[in-house]
Amino acid sequence: MIEKIEKLLQQVEAFTPQSAAELENFRIKILGKKGELNALMAEFKTVPAEQKRELGQLINRLKTAATERINTLREQLQDAADESASAIGDMTRPGSSEHIGSRHPISLVKNEIVEVFSRLGYTVAEGPEIEDDWHVFSALNFPPEHPARDMQDTFFVEKNPDILLRTHTSSIQVRTMEHQKPPIRVVCPGRVFRNEAISYRAHCIFHQLEGLYIDEGVSFADMKQSLQYFAKEIFGENTAIRMRPSYFPFTEPSAEVDVSCNLCGGKGCPVCKGTGWLEIMGCGMVDPNVLESNGIDSKKYSGFAFGMGIERIAMLKYGVKDLRLYFENDVRFLEQFNKAL
Ligand code: DAH
Repeated sequence: MIEKIEKLLQQVEAFTPQSAAELENFRIKILGKKGELNALMAEFKTVPAEQKRELGQLINRLKTAATERINTLREQLQDAADESASAIGDMTRPGSSEHIGSRHPISLVKNEIVEVFSRLGYTVAEGPEIEDDWHVFSALNFPPEHPARDMQDTFFVEKNPDILLRTHTSSIQVRTMEHQKPPIRVVCPGRVFRNEAISYRAHCIFHQLEGLYIDEGVSFADMKQSLQYFAKEIFGENTAIRMRPSYFPFTEPSAEVDVSCNLCGGKGCPVCKGTGWLEIMGCGMVDPNVLESNGIDSKKYSGFAFGMGIERIAMLKYGVKDLRLYFENDVRFLEQFNKAL
């Protein structure tokens, strides 16, 4: 009887079925009502008492081994079946829709502005976010005591007041003039940093897009025409622009550009605060000092420059009232711009 049980134990260990049916037959053969185990139990009753202990233990071992082996094999067969089923998939189930990302509204607007200016022959120039005083201020004709250099506005890197996070993309104008001789026609998008309290209309990190055009005989009228074209392309055919005198150290004369409010058509509404106009950028004729600082002959060449906040353009274009939404990256906000792709 011992021999028989040991043989059965070996059989159980070695058994590897190809199908669930084969496994089930094996289970019935060993553990079923008329199976080997029950036969052994019947025989067990007839063995002399002194053999009962050893035999009983062996039969129990066989029972446990067979039950465990059969359970493991059943799981393995089920896993294999699941795998092959999922490879094909249930053809009757509805398809699962893939969630695709969308471009960030700031990228969308940036790309659109770059596209508009590329039609006027502008290429894209970029520059570093960590800059030095020369490229952000000095080469742009900022006097040493100008408030923009102040600790309140500018983030300085470590303790060196010469190294700072650029406060505007105008620094890329300087870098472009260093490497390129006129004619120059570039737009320069990028991130800028200012030490400002975060609110619905201001952030310490935001995006600007700068433009620079230098050639012989470039006039204020050329600038106005280019910016008018830009405004119509971005805000619609019926958009008008107006220019108000302003001041920037690197342009002379300088102007602030407004577009007619596209919400009320210029009649006056809460968005334009009743004025019918929305401020969108600064611009001006490049100051001869700036041309000379950057090795360009101001007697031969003239040019214009402009700079705008991309968040501001995007807010006006999409009617977004809180600038912070652009930085929170809430998918429910970002998804709304899918259509604009
Ligand atoms: N750099 C200015 C700012 O950050 C914007 C600006 C104004 C850029 C006039 C220009 C310009 O190129 O001509 O406020």
